[in-house]
Amino acid sequence: MNERLLILTEALSKEVKKVINDYKVTEQELLRAIDFLNETGKQNEFHLLSDVLGISVEVNELTHGVHHDHHENTTSYNVEGPLYRDEAPLLNRPVKLCGDDEPGEILLLSGQVLSSKDGSPLANAILDVWQANEHGYYENQDPDQEEFNLRGRLQTDEEGRYEFKTILPGAYEIGRGGPVGEFLKAQARHAWRPAHIHFKVTAEDHTPLTTMLFVPDDPYIDSDTIGAVKDSLILKLNKSYDEELAKSYHIKDHFFISSFDFILRAK
Ligand code: BEZ
Ligand code: FE
Repeated sequence: MNERLLILTEALSKEVKKVINDYKVTEQELLRAIDFLNETGKQNEFHLLSDVLGISVEVNELTHGVHHDHHENTTSYNVEGPLYRDEAPLLNRPVKLCGDDEPGEILLLSGQVLSSKDGSPLANAILDVWQANEHGYYENQDPDQEEFNLRGRLQTDEEGRYEFKTILPGAYEIGRGGPVGEFLKAQARHAWRPAHIHFKVTAEDHTPLTTMLFVPDDPYIDSDTIGAVKDSLILKLNKSYDEELAKSYHIKDHFFISSFDFILRAK
């Protein structure tokens, strides 16, 4: 017997009955909801439904957030999303997440991976990075991109430092064509996620950190359809005029620089 399941079912049923009574839900509405859920299952969109209902982020926050174990000084976690791929290539310095001809505004992101215990730098930590191109498409959604474009794993140096060149990703719409897209449209809700870069950071004796960093000033930064934006995860971008840096990454145009330190929980 699964007692936890029984408790959660009873609690959920109680809340749903309250909504039914408060809003006088009709039989017709119930049948429409059942049709919608059947279609959502058929098209494998239950995870997406959990995302746009804000459930995925809520559970992630409860599982990893500061309330969890009073680790206020660590980097905020965030949901992984459905577009992660295992075994992205290990990239050597100077690290480039895409070819030099990738369209988009160039970004050089750097920083350190640090321990929550004493702030010490974590050498040989791995950052597994994945992001969309400037039009908001991940490589595995877009036949025009090369395998593992804008994905890669990089390792921190002896001082826990990392640095890589990429482009600013574009915002994208999620699940527009299916039942969840219809569900959003019926409520006049948009389906946009503001531009972001995903990370999984791992280091010895530390809890792995899955998170994402957001591009500032994105038009959807205050209305992410899955509600994942946290202020502490919004990058600060600066224009760079460093010619040496530009040369070492074969950058001919202007480019942005940004710095972000990841603080991992010591086990
Ligand atoms: C993403 O960030 O890649 C994502 C998250 C939730 C739903 C769809 C995409
Ligand atoms: Fe994403």
